[in-house]
Amino acid sequence: MDWDAIQRYMRATGASHSEIQEEMADYADEHGFPIIGPDAGGVLRMLARLTDAETVFEFGSGYGYSASWFLAGGADEIVLTEIDEEELEMARSFLARAGYTDRASYELGDALETVESYDGPFDVVLIDHDKPRYAEGFERAREKIPEGGVVVADNMTRGPADLDALVAYFADDEPLPEDANDGTEGIANYIEHVRADPAFESFILPVGSGICLSTRVAPRER
Ligand SMILES: C[S@@+](CC[C@H](N)C(=O)[O-])C[C@H]1O[C@@H](n2cnc3c(N)ncnc32)[C@H](O)[C@@H]1O
Repeated sequence: MDWDAIQRYMRATGASHSEIQEEMADYADEHGFPIIGPDAGGVLRMLARLTDAETVFEFGSGYGYSASWFLAGGADEIVLTEIDEEELEMARSFLARAGYTDRASYELGDALETVESYDGPFDVVLIDHDKPRYAEGFERAREKIPEGGVVVADNMTRGPADLDALVAYFADDEPLPEDANDGTEGIANYIEHVRADPAFESFILPVGSGICLSTRVAPRER
């Protein structure tokens, strides 16, 4: 069976959109906006349930689509971060219409700075902002993630990174091309970074644009 057929099979049997999520997904289609999509969304929803999430933190929330999945999974509170004011306002409006006003807070600005003003703990963190800064996002959130907490990073197999170059680098021990773009270098660096961290267990799940899941398996240092 080919990969397209598997994707269609997964989509036909995967998580379904609510009415508002359908509207959000239609907006993404119309404007070519890179949302995480319903298959990865189903994983976010499950992670919120499995961790009984009290607080979720997102690096790069767009207009709230990924946040809507965490909230659908029962997350008590989610911090949305965004550098684009218009997108953050759209998130506020979509999530209010979905009945989530009391459980979402909205932070305009650089997520890497915003995260410093939160103590955590974060039961789940989504990293979906600027690819070259993924590893920095992980580092800044790292000590705020309790044992059993999970970090999800999007775009491991699709997006700005060159998948062929990543496959050659990780599976065939070839160097990254000299002209590799920032996204490819950023994703390669992120994967190496989390895999080298002894406090986390990580793997890539090929749903949506490919998500890297890292769960803390050792106590925090402070
Ligand atoms: C792929 S989109 C996020 C999609 C969203 N997670 C979803 O699935 O619905 C990436 C977003 O990150 C935002 N962004 C990029 N760099 C950022 C930063 N340093 N801090 C906060 N947001 C950032 C962009 O404006 C963009 O809206």
